[in-house]
Amino acid sequence: MYLVTGATGNVGRQVVERLLTAGVTVRATSRNPVAAALPAGVEVIASQTDSHALAGVTAIFLNPAAVHDTVDALLRQATAAGVRRIVLLSSSSVLDEHPGNHTGIAHRDLEQRIERTGLEWTFLRAGMFAANTRQWAGQIRAGEVVRAAYADALIAPIHERDLAAAIVRALLSDDLLSTAPVLTGPELVTQAEQAKLIGEAIGKPIRFERVDPSDARDHMAAQGIPSSIADSLLRYYERAISHPIEPTPISTDLVGEPPRSYRQWVLDHTADFR
Ligand SMILES: NC(=O)c1ccc[n+]([C@@H]2O[C@H](COP(=O)([O-])OP(=O)(O)OC[C@H]3O[C@@H](n4cnc5c(N)ncnc54)[C@H](OP(=O)(O)O)[C@@H]3O)[C@@H](O)[C@H]2O)c1
Repeated sequence: MYLVTGATGNVGRQVVERLLTAGVTVRATSRNPVAAALPAGVEVIASQTDSHALAGVTAIFLNPAAVHDTVDALLRQATAAGVRRIVLLSSSSVLDEHPGNHTGIAHRDLEQRIERTGLEWTFLRAGMFAANTRQWAGQIRAGEVVRAAYADALIAPIHERDLAAAIVRALLSDDLLSTAPVLTGPELVTQAEQAKLIGEAIGKPIRFERVDPSDARDHMAAQGIPSSIADSLLRYYERAISHPIEPTPISTDLVGEPPRSYRQWVLDHTADFR
């Protein structure tokens, strides 16, 4: 039995699908099991700290988005229940030593809590998700312009399917045990090129309009993004113009499929932008 936290999310749904395809039993968490719309055969529970949540569980996929305040209780209960392995969706930001790097500090803290349990672990340190560009969907549906900061930031956005492939490999085999690879998409694409690729896929020319970083910060605040995260993101984009993180996609040998390009991600998600 495998426990998938954050199972209704971007990455979690893909992990659930792949585990089912691999023929294993899945228990999944969602705050609203009735609305979770997960595949038949998946047992959906409302909280990973429910008394029976960990019964019979061999390994847990841990998504930080879904654990927040419950992580210590979950790790304690996992150890007591005989869970063997934790696979954490971590972040490449843990490698950035800037003191204002709140995202990296939070993810490293989580990694260390897991290390201290003595359980088997894998930390998959994801770079920028391709799915982050969904934040432009409203602007693209409403017009032909994406207004954002740092048009020339070079990023290798990762497709959630590639992340899920690595996560499932880490859950089901020992190949990634005690490793913390940085995972990105296969190629660098500027933000302006990303907007253009979305336009090509939906058949509408999309122009990238550069805005001042302080205006971008205000826009993020209006969308409910905490200022610490907005600042981390803007700093990341600024640095990615001159010092992009070189792509380190998951190896085809390991997961049996080639890493997906950003163009592929857009083609898989055109409905979000129409
Ligand atoms: N975005 C990036 O570029 C990036 C890069 C590196 C690492 N990451 C990591 O990836 C995580 C996001 O993964 P994702 O996109 O798969 O997640 P997601 O889709 O945002 O969320 C996963 C699920 O978690 C549950 N959830 C959301 N907010 C919650 C809350 N406050 N309390 C409890 N449950 C909550 C929701 O499920 P229910 O509503 O069904 O409960 C949601 O479907 C980030 O938090 C970060 O740790 C992200």
